[in-house]
Amino acid sequence: MKTILVTGGAGFIGSHTVVELINSGYQPIIVDNFDNSSPFVLDNIKKITGISVPFYELDCNEPQFEEVFKTHKIDGIIHFAANKAVGESVENPLKYYKNNIGSLVLLLELMNKHSVTNLVFSSSCTVYGEPKELPVTESTPRQKANSPYGNTKSISEDILTDATTAHKNLRAIALRYFNPIGAHPSSLLGELPIGKPNNLVPFITQTAIGKRDELTVFGNNYPTNDGTCIRDYIHVIDLAKAHIKAFEYLSNNTNINFDIFNIGTGNGNSVLEVIHAFEKVSNQKLKYKFGPIREGDVVAVYANVDKSKNVLNWSAEINIEDALLHAWNWEKWLKENKSIVNGK
Ligand code: WQD
Repeated sequence: MKTILVTGGAGFIGSHTVVELINSGYQPIIVDNFDNSSPFVLDNIKKITGISVPFYELDCNEPQFEEVFKTHKIDGIIHFAANKAVGESVENPLKYYKNNIGSLVLLLELMNKHSVTNLVFSSSCTVYGEPKELPVTESTPRQKANSPYGNTKSISEDILTDATTAHKNLRAIALRYFNPIGAHPSSLLGELPIGKPNNLVPFITQTAIGKRDELTVFGNNYPTNDGTCIRDYIHVIDLAKAHIKAFEYLSNNTNINFDIFNIGTGNGNSVLEVIHAFEKVSNQKLKYKFGPIREGDVVAVYANVDKSKNVLNWSAEINIEDALLHAWNWEKWLKENKSIVNGK
């Protein structure tokens, strides 16, 4: 059974990927510092899979990280651990460069030192900025990122290019995520925004459950059909499965040094379309108003996913209505299980 180290494995995408790794016959190991996650997630992974996943509470940017490499024979690594709040990165860029870049460099040094070869890296469509062509392909030129967070993803891709060129035993795939949404159908895993959500879907579900008074739609005069921004919303389980396809492609094709894949649905949906889809699946009206645009937002970005389909033999399977229903059921689970969520 191959052992896969999952950094940030207690997080939103990480925890769903751990479940899919177990479902696919792998032995995951989780490293997480709970900066953006919570211990109950590990219990819920066990409830879903029956497996107690080996866990290390540590920071990937600290020397203690090497303990994991000394203790386990690692066949591959999926690196999620990073800060990812666009707004926070603008206020505190050094936190983002120190953590997101620093942890990747340390990880690559430890991979080199302990002869670990295969890495799947969490990148983002934010590297495309405001694309001039849609849908974007992996060859669409990257543009200056709209935030330090996005810039750490571009820099990380360049680090991976240089490191895999210089060190033949290092091989990597970067997955450019579009907009991850949804939750596990069991409602035991989902997005756990700490404080006020930045992202659209958790803000919608928190408004619907009464945690937020009203959703503000950031701008309705954009040059789109209904005036609101367009994004490619992908179910987190489809995204999780893409990581396993990427790892298997990398480990089965030793001629690959470094490659990049778009991981989206290939469809674009506007903010209003998401709101209306949510109202349909939740069977309730959502309270929202139109407000000023949000600094740094792009008008539209969605993926051309031909490369992932043809090379990774992967494509998204879960539609946006089911994703929104799963997110809504997760929000209701959080409300009904406050004591578990708050660790009491
Ligand atoms: C989506 C749309 C907002 C909240 C970011 C990162 C990306 C990834 C996902 C980490 C936009 C609108 C939102 C609200 C709104 N992050 N919106 N009211 O900005 O596309 O992507 O998060 O991996 O890298 O860039 O996602 O969900 O914040 O916004 O109108 O209260 O919803 O303006 O058009 P975004 P988002």
